[in-house]
Amino acid sequence: MWLTWRAATQRALYGENGFYLRERPSAHFRTSVSAAASATVGTSAVLAGAVLRELAELAGPAGMIDLVDVGAGEGALATGVLALAPQELRSRLRVTCVDVAPRPPDLPEEIGWEPVVPEGVEGLVIANEWLDNVPLDVVEQTPDGPRLVMVDPSDGAERLGDAPEEADLAWLDRWWPLGPVGERAEIGRPRDEAWASVIVRLARGRAVAVDYAHRLGARPPYGSLAGYRGGAAVAPVPDGSCDITAHVALDACAAAGERVGAVTTTLTTQREALRALGVTGARPPLDLAGWDPVGYLRALSRASLEAELIDPHGLGAFGWLRQSRP
Ligand SMILES: C[S@@+](CC[C@H](N)C(=O)[O-])C[C@H]1O[C@@H](n2cnc3c(N)ncnc32)[C@H](O)[C@@H]1O
Repeated sequence: MWLTWRAATQRALYGENGFYLRERPSAHFRTSVSAAASATVGTSAVLAGAVLRELAELAGPAGMIDLVDVGAGEGALATGVLALAPQELRSRLRVTCVDVAPRPPDLPEEIGWEPVVPEGVEGLVIANEWLDNVPLDVVEQTPDGPRLVMVDPSDGAERLGDAPEEADLAWLDRWWPLGPVGERAEIGRPRDEAWASVIVRLARGRAVAVDYAHRLGARPPYGSLAGYRGGAAVAPVPDGSCDITAHVALDACAAAGERVGAVTTTLTTQREALRALGVTGARPPLDLAGWDPVGYLRALSRASLEAELIDPHGLGAFGWLRQSRP
């Protein structure tokens, strides 16, 4: 059976007994959220602290404020934010995790669990490593122009299919122009639509997408499709046995967000975004070790977690797209 990559990935990840309906993401790969995840320890807690700062910026002096975590996985980020929130803010927080996977049994009761982003969000939407798992089509340049790459889900074998539809060709022209014969591109239109669907549900506040990203002019010439299983990179065979992911054209998502009402946009790296939120990776002063050795070790361990999140050659290179509505 030959399917487009988009159809094959949809089936493999989200179809009956699909990878994400069956597996816990943290068993297969590290994200900024799941790396050494627990509510109050690990990179998860550092990221939760940064998200809390974003939330505090948005929260007025009174009234409820939403925190919506899209593609929440095991809900570690939302759990971390709740655990760190000061009582006054916590009493005004309405926290919702959105995921197509079933609700994790150990999620705190006060966190809602929904299959789609609720309407009328007032506050902060965060989507950490969600868009890279939104299935997309792959095309390859031929002497006759781009052709869809078809895949056999049982073994990952590929062959060329038809030309993509007009809307996809237009997307490629605008966002990922192909070079010589043999080059490949991933058509990010489904991610643009997914992101736009978040922005339209944002009544007031900010939406943040954090992901592996690339920009126009610096796309990977042969694409970025990859598979992960049990912590290791594997061939991306869409048979449901592994995660299938591809980096995100966040610049295209930003334009899609603007088309549906985002009024401000910033696109930066995780390193820059987190540094602005106070995550510096700075080591504690050595003399702290003399009078508070336990505090020193705790601060040192936090500094190394922070450094992991802002490492320019690792998680720090992730893209942060921030868009707001008034
Ligand atoms: C890579 S995991 C990220 C989990 C978590 N945010 C983290 O950083 O560890 C991607 C998650 O997105 C979810 N997901 C994918 N498509 C979705 C959709 N259309 N709606 C809701 N959740 C979705 C998957 O089920 C999966 O849990």
